[in-house]
Amino acid sequence: MPGRPLTASSSDPSSDPAAELTFEAVLAAAEIVRTELAPSPLQAHPLLDRALGRPVLVKHENVLPTGAFKVRGGVHLAARLTDAERAHGLVTCSTGNHAQSVAYGARLAGVRATVVMPASAPAAKRDAVRALGAEVVLVGASLGEAAEHARARAAQTGASFVCPTDPRIVLGHATAYLELFGQAADAGAELSALFVPVGSGTGAAGACLVRDVLAPDCRVVGVQSAAAPAGWRSWRSGAIETAPATTRAAGLATTTGYPRTQAVLRERLDEFVLVDDDAIDDAARLLATCAHTLAEGAGAASLAGALARRMDGLVAVVCTGANASADEIARLAGSVAAA
Ligand SMILES: Cc1ncc(COP(=O)(O)O)c(C=O)c1O
Repeated sequence: MPGRPLTASSSDPSSDPAAELTFEAVLAAAEIVRTELAPSPLQAHPLLDRALGRPVLVKHENVLPTGAFKVRGGVHLAARLTDAERAHGLVTCSTGNHAQSVAYGARLAGVRATVVMPASAPAAKRDAVRALGAEVVLVGASLGEAAEHARARAAQTGASFVCPTDPRIVLGHATAYLELFGQAADAGAELSALFVPVGSGTGAAGACLVRDVLAPDCRVVGVQSAAAPAGWRSWRSGAIETAPATTRAAGLATTTGYPRTQAVLRERLDEFVLVDDDAIDDAARLLATCAHTLAEGAGAASLAGALARRMDGLVAVVCTGANASADEIARLAGSVAAA
């Protein structure tokens, strides 16, 4: 429950934070995360198997508090705040789920948090952040503009800017994949591929870190919206690229590649596919009709990827978030009615 402080530690992030992204660090993060969050289920859905024409397992991160995998990052961050962060509070930027995650973590640790969101951030996500006790500032047309404002605000107020790819956040997110590969092994399920949605790339980077140790034969496939392809472009070119983000899937609406996660993905991600927003809507409809699951666009993207890039064998997708906007729910209802 928010409001209960976790064990504090004042470790400063190192000057080379990518160096902290190790499997051992994921194991240590999991020790913290599991004190606050129950494991999310990894489930088969026979109707979904039938719709896909082959078996698929769904990791249901949508059932976590805040309705998204990102809460793992906030919980881990809360236990690893520096003394300065505790004293002066946190400021970050987000289209929604990272915001809720930082707000959740700040509340756990009893520190102040301000979240700068682009004006386009869904109202439901803004309300959810406020309900967790954080201040919401709406600035800018894109996440990039919101990020600039958040950094400036941190410099003015003394609060610490929490980058969405802060290593403490990435390691927290990676615990989802520690669970996933453990659950698959316990069930005797050998995965041929795991599809992970990519915005800033924290989830996909975390998946790669864990896969390399626990399931080296499983391919990790990143999935991004073709209407926000900065991460995909960066991965392909090996340089940090920008691109417009016009996707309807708010969690995927990043306008730049992120150096820390790209450094991991460049080395370790097996494939990266782009899907269009209509395919994401179709996948959200399948999750609703065949897996009794409400997914926001970003949460349905990995299934869209699995539909676009057909793989042999058993595949896993991760339903990363349930925080569908009113528009997403209306579109879902429309397509379900039409189906
Ligand atoms: C529900 C959901 N899925 C996927 C993503 C993409 O995750 P990442 O930014 O770590 O790549 C996000 C990002 O906010 C999200 O909210």
